[in-house]
Amino acid sequence: MDWEAAIRAELDPMVPYAPGLRASEVRERFGRDTILKLSSNEHPCGPFPTALRAMEAVLPRLNRYPDGSARALRRALCQHLGAADESLVIGNGSNELIRLIAQVLLRPGDEVVFAWPSFVVYPMVTQMFGAIAVKVPLTADEIHDLSAMLAAITDKTRIVFLCNPNNPTGTIYHREKFERFLAEVPGHVMVVVDEAYFEFVTDDRYPDALDWFDGDRPLAVLRTFSKIYSLAGLRIGYGVLPAPLAHAVDKVREPFNVNTPAQVGAFYSLGDEAEVERRKRENQEQKTYLYSAFDRLGIGYVPSETNFVYLRTERPVEVFEALLGEGVIVRGFGTAPALRVGVGTPEDTRATIAALEAVVARLGGV
Ligand SMILES: Cc1ncc(COP(=O)(O)O)c(C=O)c1O
Repeated sequence: MDWEAAIRAELDPMVPYAPGLRASEVRERFGRDTILKLSSNEHPCGPFPTALRAMEAVLPRLNRYPDGSARALRRALCQHLGAADESLVIGNGSNELIRLIAQVLLRPGDEVVFAWPSFVVYPMVTQMFGAIAVKVPLTADEIHDLSAMLAAITDKTRIVFLCNPNNPTGTIYHREKFERFLAEVPGHVMVVVDEAYFEFVTDDRYPDALDWFDGDRPLAVLRTFSKIYSLAGLRIGYGVLPAPLAHAVDKVREPFNVNTPAQVGAFYSLGDEAEVERRKRENQEQKTYLYSAFDRLGIGYVPSETNFVYLRTERPVEVFEALLGEGVIVRGFGTAPALRVGVGTPEDTRATIAALEAVVARLGGV
């Protein structure tokens, strides 16, 4: 087989997604007992207790395929969101939905506009289907520059991804900006708003994109159970899409893309609003402790609406390694002058601050 000829040339420039270091690798490398993994924006606690019990109860029935249409969860989500059944899609993580939307809409040579830095999966799916990535830099405050994104749209633009809040900077754009954007975006462009961190947002200027969803406008909204609901390991997310797009996604998805424990876990998590609120409050509290420690240690950071914080550092590689030595795994971006640190439990916060203090003492600053 001539592999070079056989494999689609669009895949040549791609590199496989590089997950962060696993706690076990760091434990082995540094011989430490306790490792704090703050690199993947996961929730520090396990799934909601009722969800956990319900998932345990279905394990003996895993010889059966899941419900391919996830009927019970669909009904619950439609009710929760006030969405129509024909617009709802459920995916193997919202990641799968990003790819399926790209697969359905993109032809070679189409353009896809998104902010940068933002979620790494947008350039991956763009490249995968032979489309062209148009990266629009964030503002100096690390916020989406929606005017510049509008200006980047051409006749060839097929999708605009908006990540709100943005990963990795944790920032949001405000309601008026989004409203203006929607009023001006040309009708041939599909606007996909990725709200993976929706449940953590406390700023009341945040535009919940579902408020603008009317089924006609080319607008899609994606969310996930991986973050505040602690189901990252199961892979489940959902989207509200105009019905024709939802129907097309339904054609190309795997028949059983969402496994049974994921459906059950999501169903039972949805019912526990009190736990969502508690987690949101705790996340906010821990961020305020972290901010005051960053201020005290002279570490620059971007105030965040998510469960992670974007730190500014001129020595990212050195600081990343030094933190590893203290047993804390954060996310680096090569030589870009920043690191992303997850927000965890009060105990995690204390350990993060202690590690940063040790690193600042050793390196004389970050
Ligand atoms: C902005 C953003 N979108 C989507 C995802 C994917 O989430 P899921 O676990 O639902 O695939 C993530 C995960 O980190 C993310 O940060």
